[in-house]
Amino acid sequence: MEIIRAKTAGFCFGVDRAVKLTYDLLEQGHKVATLGPLIHNPQCVADLEAKGAVTVDDAADLPAGFEVVIRSHGVPASVYESLRAQGAVVHDATCPFVAKIHRLAQRAGEEGKPLLVAGDSTHPEVVGIVGHTTGPVFVFSNLEELERLNLPEISKNGGFVVAQTTFEAKKWRECVEFLKKVYTNLEIFDTICNATWARQHEAECLARQCDLMIIIGGRHSSNTQKLVTVAGHYTKAVSIETAAELQKGWFDGVQKVGVTAGASTPSSIIEEVLSSMSEEIREEELSFEEMIDASL
Ligand code: F3S
Repeated sequence: MEIIRAKTAGFCFGVDRAVKLTYDLLEQGHKVATLGPLIHNPQCVADLEAKGAVTVDDAADLPAGFEVVIRSHGVPASVYESLRAQGAVVHDATCPFVAKIHRLAQRAGEEGKPLLVAGDSTHPEVVGIVGHTTGPVFVFSNLEELERLNLPEISKNGGFVVAQTTFEAKKWRECVEFLKKVYTNLEIFDTICNATWARQHEAECLARQCDLMIIIGGRHSSNTQKLVTVAGHYTKAVSIETAAELQKGWFDGVQKVGVTAGASTPSSIIEEVLSSMSEEIREEELSFEEMIDASL
């Protein structure tokens, strides 16, 4: 069995920056609280907590004496205001690609235009984006939902269209095509970040040539689950958080297996999965040799 590891597997620039910032603060002895789990990877969050970080869901729950780290997903404008009002020390790790969408959302509000967001309305990044505009907002997660929206304001005022940074590229193209056909006065900004695009593209290329794709990452990680969807269009794709979840049966009859990981998956977990798989192969080869030895 051949194992091919995706070159883009693992931490993206924005996640890497947020994780390094938090570890550095802890090492320097700061008391650190993150607003929500720093990344969608339970193992990494557990390690940060073991080093003293705490996770709070709301700015109002910030314990006294703790500094706050805003994760790469970003937060609504109201959260900045609340932190400012509390006089909290803020370390803002909002990914610059997300911050760019916040500025577009703010502009839409200032210009009195509706904001259309392609994404998951419950995802923290989308909640943050929506919280930076003051005008009407419409969120859709696919073409069918977009088609069902009643958007009378757009024909009057125009509008801004953005995408969650981890939105599926194929779905985005479908939605943009539809919007261009129906409206002539929209400003469309392709805000899917390069890291997402490159990971999805590589997952597709690998899936096309492999009998099985293993995708490593948090079950609540949007970009990881998108990779599972993308790869699943072309081959069998399974999602795991750690090496312990690998199942022997998946590899029956498999010649080539592709391995990739979401943008919030630490390299240590990827290495662990790869070495467990190699072990597995070695054991199989050994037992095959033993069978031959025994038959001689
Ligand atoms: Fe930023 Fe893209 Fe990662 S938006 S957090 S570099 S997936």
